Amino acid sequence: MKRILVTGGTGYIGSHTIIELYKQDYELDVMDNLYNSKVTVLDQIKQLTGKKPDFYQVDLRDYDAMDKLFAERHYDMVIHFAGLKAVAESVEKPLEYYENNVGGTVNLLKCMKKYGTKKIIFSSSATVYGDQGVARLDETMPTGNGITNPYGETKHMIEEILKDVAESDPTFEITILRYFNPVGNHESGLIGEDPNGIPNNLMPVIMKVARGEIAELEVYGDDYPTPDGTCIRDYIHVVDLAKGHVAAAAHMKPGVSIYNLGSGKGTSVKEMVAAFEEAAGKPLPNHVAPRRAGDLAELIADPSKAEKELNWKTELTVADAMRDTIKFLSQNGA
Ligand code: NAD
Ligand code: WQD
Repeated sequence: MKRILVTGGTGYIGSHTIIELYKQDYELDVMDNLYNSKVTVLDQIKQLTGKKPDFYQVDLRDYDAMDKLFAERHYDMVIHFAGLKAVAESVEKPLEYYENNVGGTVNLLKCMKKYGTKKIIFSSSATVYGDQGVARLDETMPTGNGITNPYGETKHMIEEILKDVAESDPTFEITILRYFNPVGNHESGLIGEDPNGIPNNLMPVIMKVARGEIAELEVYGDDYPTPDGTCIRDYIHVVDLAKGHVAAAAHMKPGVSIYNLGSGKGTSVKEMVAAFEEAAGKPLPNHVAPRRAGDLAELIADPSKAEKELNWKTELTVADAMRDTIKFLSQNGA
């Protein structure tokens, strides 16, 4: 049986991916510093799958601790989710973001090289495309131009580092997955994203409004050149996203392979609000507010490469994500 190290495996996307990976014959170790997650999610995974990963509370920035882990356990592959991801916070604390995301990934790659683990799947983001001047993004487009925040820069830098590593050692098998906008949660409602404090992303804000923790959703701008004036994004159900990792793990090959993971469909902010209201059966208080700096009108994945090469495409819809979000909310204090 192949053993995979899942960094950031107690986080939102990592925990959902573990559930899907357990449908295959993998042994999983989780490494996380629990900065943005709770170890109890592994009990919920056990409840849902009957299996529980071994957990190691290790920080990516602590090279010696990671070296010790790699020395004790043999890994065939790493799925690397661990990182800081709050765009606004990265503007306030750029050095923390570079140290954690870029420095931490360099430590991880050094351990992988030292102990002969040559396969890695990396959580990148559509943010690396910057502003292409078109809505639909494919993997042939240049990256790194017009990224508006340090978080996005860290994702681009890590992609470049991974390309250099592959160049230096052709036995590395590297897959970069560029996620669009992950939403929703496992249909059981047992696990999901539940950030502390004030979230940046749309769905966590909608959830806080639904719970009454935020009075109203601010819709950032309704004067964009889109049909209803609000921004359009490609929202992907996190369970589809998780399955994308299982597909990627089954198709590793030498060199660097890059895939968009998105649905190929766009949904506006107003449509997201309407979809939530439909699923909840009640209105979601909201009002139009000024535009947020750095937002682009429309970003949609061209997911055809992943469909062709990984035999993967999304199966769930925004309506499914809203239904599952409401189930999660009902089981978590709303
Ligand atoms: P998350 O915060 O829920 O999970 C990330 C996990 O990494 C957390 O459990 C956190 O405790 C851990 N972590 C952070 N720094 C660490 C460190 N130094 N050492 C060990 N563990 C550390 O976030 P998520 O939404 O599950 O995102 C997973 C990955 O996907 C991240 O790399 C993120 O940048 C990327 N991504 C997320 C989105 C999104 O919208 N959620 C979109 C594109 C890409
Ligand atoms: C979606 C839409 C907002 C909050 C970011 C990162 C990207 C990736 C995903 C990690 C936009 C609007 C939001 C609110 C609103 N993350 N909105 N009111 O900006 O597409 O992408 O998260 O890699 O890198 O940049 O996602 O969820 O923040 O916003 O109107 O309170 O919702 O303007 O149009 P975004 P988001």
